Amino acid sequence: MVAPLLLLLPLVFTPSPIKAATQWTGMNQAGMEFCLSDTAPTGFNSPGCDPGTMGEHYFGPANSSLDNFRKLGSNVVRVPLSWERLQPVLNGPLTSDYAAYVDSLITRETTNGSLFVIDIHNYGRYKGLQLGSVDVPYDAFYNLWEQLANKYKGNEKVVFGLMNQPGGTLQAPAGPSIQEWWGTIYNTAIQRIRATGATNRILVQATCKAFGQNFFSDTCGVGGISNAEGALSLSDPLGKTSIDIHQFINTDRNGGSGECTHDFIPILNPITTYLRAHQKTAWLGEFGVGWSDTCIASLSSLMTYLSDNSDVWPGWIYWVAGPAWGDPRNGGYAFSVEPPASGVGERPQVTVIKSYFVDKDLANKQTNNTVEDQERKPSGTGSGSGARGRVVGAGWMVGMLVGVFGVVALLL
Ligand SMILES: *[C@@H]1O[C@H](CO)[C@@H](O)[C@H](O)[C@H]1NC(C)=O
Ligand SMILES: *[C@@H]1O[C@H](CO)[C@@H](O)[C@H](O)[C@H]1NC(C)=O
Ligand SMILES: *[C@@H]1O[C@H](CO)[C@@H](O)[C@H](O)[C@H]1NC(C)=O
Repeated sequence: MVAPLLLLLPLVFTPSPIKAATQWTGMNQAGMEFCLSDTAPTGFNSPGCDPGTMGEHYFGPANSSLDNFRKLGSNVVRVPLSWERLQPVLNGPLTSDYAAYVDSLITRETTNGSLFVIDIHNYGRYKGLQLGSVDVPYDAFYNLWEQLANKYKGNEKVVFGLMNQPGGTLQAPAGPSIQEWWGTIYNTAIQRIRATGATNRILVQATCKAFGQNFFSDTCGVGGISNAEGALSLSDPLGKTSIDIHQFINTDRNGGSGECTHDFIPILNPITTYLRAHQKTAWLGEFGVGWSDTCIASLSSLMTYLSDNSDVWPGWIYWVAGPAWGDPRNGGYAFSVEPPASGVGERPQVTVIKSYFVDKDLANKQTNNTVEDQERKPSGTGSGSGARGRVVGAGWMVGMLVGVFGVVALLL
């Protein structure tokens, strides 16, 4: 009688609600976009910015900083980039020195086991002109991504961040509406990327600066649908596209200053519910706080929250490290966690987030991207298939084990 009972157990155990753990945790390394793509205060028309000089107008991440976060367990680096410097002529080749430098960074980080998010940090513009205008037709944007896809389709650790904060600091109405971003631009770019054979993960951002507080309500001042409605039409044949949300809790919730007068969780919680209801996933692609006790407490709660809701939030990336933010205690950017000069100590934000970095032994891993990616698939991006994949996988394993015991019991 024992054996048949055991054989039934797999049916009981299969739907066990095993939650997918957070998979991708890391750091934005900003500076490569400075002076050009960034619209204010040193915007596109600033002298010398186009294309500008590395170390003067824009700044590559420090190897020591990249290594520092990887050693702490960070397994994704997102690097804001300037479309203009990558591709100085629309529809032209990606052969600039800048593109070559980006390529060397990608090799360095992905060979060392980290994901690398190519973040086109252009706010829906090229040389200050709106995407969708006569000068910057949508097709130029698809061309950029088709070329990047062809270049990086052999490296699964490269993530395609299609466009940072469309409708950003220079607000619509001149640019495409939310409806056009979700209904046309993103889906066409994804189709063009997939047509190259690239299976890389993709991140697409909500418009109106990608901020969580705008997700359900705001129409970026141009009317029409909200991001929450727009994102329902997102379509990736591989289900490897996630929404990229940004969230700050300073007074304006825009990441511009270091005080914390809001809290993350009340803003993100409705998005979590939405993601589950619609079987979508999101990354928190930018979030950062100042160093006050209030801010650090909020950051700590956020870390717990994202960990508790990792089925729909598989990745997060702190804003920000980078060599050119200055000393936050001395007039620099309050959110900066660039490792200070030796002997000064770690930034308080890092003391919180480092214990949530998921890949503690990354620095010691023998890197073989193929094997590691096979182990990780499905990735939990796109339609939430990752979470389901893991549940099914785990159920199958339990089923196998119990099944084997059942057979053994039968034989006995
Ligand atoms: C950073 O590391 C790469 C190798 O990963 C090396 O080629 C490059 O020269 C280093 N950069 C600096 C500034 O040391
Ligand atoms: C990986 O990182 C180490 C430092 O941790 C660096 O020395 C090495 O050059 C990197 N690998 C590549 C391929 O750049
Ligand atoms: C990585 O692992 C795959 C699958 O086992 C193997 O085919 C490939 O040769 C390995 N690559 C390296 C560089 O070791």
